[in-house]
Amino acid sequence: MIIPRPAEYTPHSGEFVLGPALNLAADPGAERAADLLASYLGDRPRTEQGPAVELRLDPGAHDHPQGYDLRIDPDRVRLAAAGEAGLFNGVQTLRQLLPVMTATASAAPQRWPACHIRDAPRLPWRGVMLDVARHFMPVDFLHRFVDEIALHKLNVLHLHLTDDQGWRIEIDGLPLLTEIGSTRAESMVGRAGSTVFDGVPHSGHYTRRELAALVEHAAARGVTIVPEIGMPSHTRAAIAAYPALGNHPDVRLPVWTSWGISEDILAVHDEALDFCRHVLSDVMTLFPSRAVHIGGDECRTGQWQENPDARGRAASLGLPDVSGLLGWFLSQMHTFLAEHGRRAVCWNDGVGVDNLDLGVVATAWLKPEHAAEAIARGHQVIMAPHEQTYLDYRQTGHPDEPPSADDRVLTLADAYSFDPLPTGLTAVGAAALDDGSGGPGVLGTQAQLWTESAPTTEVVRHLLYPRLCALAEGAWSDERRDPADFARRLQPHLERLAALGALPAARPAGWEGAQYTQGMPF
Ligand code: ACM
Repeated sequence: MIIPRPAEYTPHSGEFVLGPALNLAADPGAERAADLLASYLGDRPRTEQGPAVELRLDPGAHDHPQGYDLRIDPDRVRLAAAGEAGLFNGVQTLRQLLPVMTATASAAPQRWPACHIRDAPRLPWRGVMLDVARHFMPVDFLHRFVDEIALHKLNVLHLHLTDDQGWRIEIDGLPLLTEIGSTRAESMVGRAGSTVFDGVPHSGHYTRRELAALVEHAAARGVTIVPEIGMPSHTRAAIAAYPALGNHPDVRLPVWTSWGISEDILAVHDEALDFCRHVLSDVMTLFPSRAVHIGGDECRTGQWQENPDARGRAASLGLPDVSGLLGWFLSQMHTFLAEHGRRAVCWNDGVGVDNLDLGVVATAWLKPEHAAEAIARGHQVIMAPHEQTYLDYRQTGHPDEPPSADDRVLTLADAYSFDPLPTGLTAVGAAALDDGSGGPGVLGTQAQLWTESAPTTEVVRHLLYPRLCALAEGAWSDERRDPADFARRLQPHLERLAALGALPAARPAGWEGAQYTQGMPF
């Protein structure tokens, strides 16, 4: 009943019964995974008597750094992995092997079926991007969401922290980013190009203390928070705070209230680049993630074309025209991050890539062929094609679906059939996640949830589930895809999600039951 489906599962007879107290033994290095498991078991009192649950780090347990070996016998449970990431994954399997726990039943007897599971992921980076810039999401929601991510053996929460419509992270020494940049006067109603606005200010940002706590909460679940600071495009909120960063320093622009693609981008003078380095320095102190996302998507270069200084900079760099400044800008930031042991990830829409540093991880969001092209040039890539991974697209054609920024429908069946590792592309080794090694190839895949039309956590939850479960399975499990088997496992999994409070309180009228199963063999 596990999602994502484990690589090898061998049932045995019998079961391991958990009593009111827990005999949990953890080797050095396995303590955090053991603490997480104990929390999922209702924080039972500990004992050293009776059948034991043992967590062990063992280089020979599995050859994949995120893999694990789990043996459940009636008298003993043994979870072993070569690294902590594998233990965290095994803990989530143990969690899913338990009957669904309701809050009141947490100390009741629980049982695990005897079995042997050997399991490892197909792709090292299994992410979800959440856009907290277009609509701010409360930090307690992020804490809960991180745990739901971990439940699906996803290991990256990519937080889209800045955009034209809001700057959501406190930065030392640049107070106006949040004093001015975190509030917009109102929001557009409807899609890009609408002339209707709601008249309601929208505001919010995360403090350093909140982000530090979130990072720690995520690390205790094997989840890495990858921060995104978008540049040089999608920066209207930063320019509203510090107009000198823009191409029209004498014009004070408000934080953008519209949806769509703003023409306002950062200037390419030293002050703008130093601003970005300052922000990235501070971001590195808050987020230990090796990967730092620097945006780079939908960069309209009209303002550089009109700006003699930008044209002069392009010429002095030997670039044929200002469009080359995008790859140059992103590469400058990657170099800076690399000097501090980090690496840049950017969005890749096929623009500005000719002169992009090959150390930058390219997130192919627009067209799948951009991934193959980037790999051919020498990049590691994250597969995030919008038609299959943008969970802000409506999931059914039902008339009561919440409004979406696009008419597209991305069904559960579409999400399940998405193959992040198509024929002809190869995955890079898991070590790439930590040390950047492994050469060009697919580093991973990611679900995206943009929030222009998802103003509340309730709408976000409606959009996430169950499609995130399907994408998680594609990120983890190998090519043997069986929709009927997935559908069978999804039913109890949805009960588990409901018990966790992960599902929206209400779905659109008529949506429950038949709607999300469109195209699936339920
Ligand atoms: C994107 O959808 N602009 C990455």
